[in-house]
Amino acid sequence: MKKIKKVGVLGSGLMGSGIAEIAARAGYETVVREISSELVDKGLQKVHGSLGKAVEKGKLEAADRDAAVARLSGTVDLGALADCDVVVEAIVENLEEKRKTFSALDQVVQPDAIFASNTSSLTITQMAMFTQRPEKFVGLHFFNPVPVMKLVEVVRTLLTSQEAYDAAIEVVRGFGKEPVTARDNSGFLVNRLLVPYLLDAVRAYEEGVGSIEDIDKAMQLGCGYPMGPFTLLDFVGLDTTYYIANIMFDEYREKRFAPPPLLKQMVLAGRLGRKSGRGFYEHSRK
Ligand code: CAA
Ligand code: NAD
Repeated sequence: MKKIKKVGVLGSGLMGSGIAEIAARAGYETVVREISSELVDKGLQKVHGSLGKAVEKGKLEAADRDAAVARLSGTVDLGALADCDVVVEAIVENLEEKRKTFSALDQVVQPDAIFASNTSSLTITQMAMFTQRPEKFVGLHFFNPVPVMKLVEVVRTLLTSQEAYDAAIEVVRGFGKEPVTARDNSGFLVNRLLVPYLLDAVRAYEEGVGSIEDIDKAMQLGCGYPMGPFTLLDFVGLDTTYYIANIMFDEYREKRFAPPPLLKQMVLAGRLGRKSGRGFYEHSRK
């Protein structure tokens, strides 16, 4: 198996910036691509800020932070990913955007490179078929916040080669994460269980079962969850959750995946959660 040295990341939003951070920290040369130079700078700043905090907390040596920063670069040019060994896509949860991105990426990146999507709800097979390398295509599903959450779901399709799957497991371990393997069903393992729970919390609130604060408190103190469902929805992003629910509902046609009306209204109103400063709760913008 070819040694993995250079990692490309598409998108530096919530997830892409976290993936770029752990890749650079793990010693890989890392290049992250965004759609504008402002977003490239914003993404790099997020990573630098997070590495800085790790140093302040004594979890990272200043010299290791400097080395990680030196290994990380940002670009708007897909061509800068040409010599990557692995590319992890973490752009908006929209099939058409992913189609455009993977078709273009396939033209510029060396044919041996592995492509991975961090999608929450689309199937990997759909995206693999946008490229000429479906056997080198896997799902690598990270969890938010990426630097903290230990799990990565590794998704193999009917077409994924054993070599690509083995390389994906190696990358996950190289990032210091723990893999589980999932079949290519929309939502994989975690979101199949988590998404109906989050949507049900919104439905419970719509039906007047309890207040947002009390539902959160109940799940935190009653079940030991680190965050209640509304805090978690704000954390994940209400826009992303809404896209995920629509995709999973389209796939399974089961009510448990249907986006509740309030979720749609929140997204239309621009209340996207932490990322916009307001969702179910108010958040101070960083
Ligand atoms: N980046 C880096 N580190 C972070 C962080 C971030 N965004 N947020 C928190 N941390 C670190 C803190 O620095 C802290 O580290 P130390 O203990 O070493 O100091 C540690 O995480 C704990 O943080 P806090 O003490 O501030 O807060 P906490 O104990 O409440 O933990 C949390 C924060 C880890 C986010 C915790 O609340 C949690 O696990 N929440 C649930 C997260 C979850 O369910 N994620 C999955 C979302 S679903 C998904 O990702 C899939 C999808 O497709 C939508
Ligand atoms: P986000 O909205 O925070 O970031 C998406 C970023 O992608 C934006 O910065 C946007 O400018 C950029 N982008 C859009 N098109 C692009 C392109 N063609 N090339 C490069 N960048 C592009 O979203 P996010 O929460 O980081 O989610 C990204 C992906 O990760 C989605 O597929 C989502 O389902 C998945 N995911 C999200 C979470 C979560 O908790 N938010 C968890 C796991 C997986």
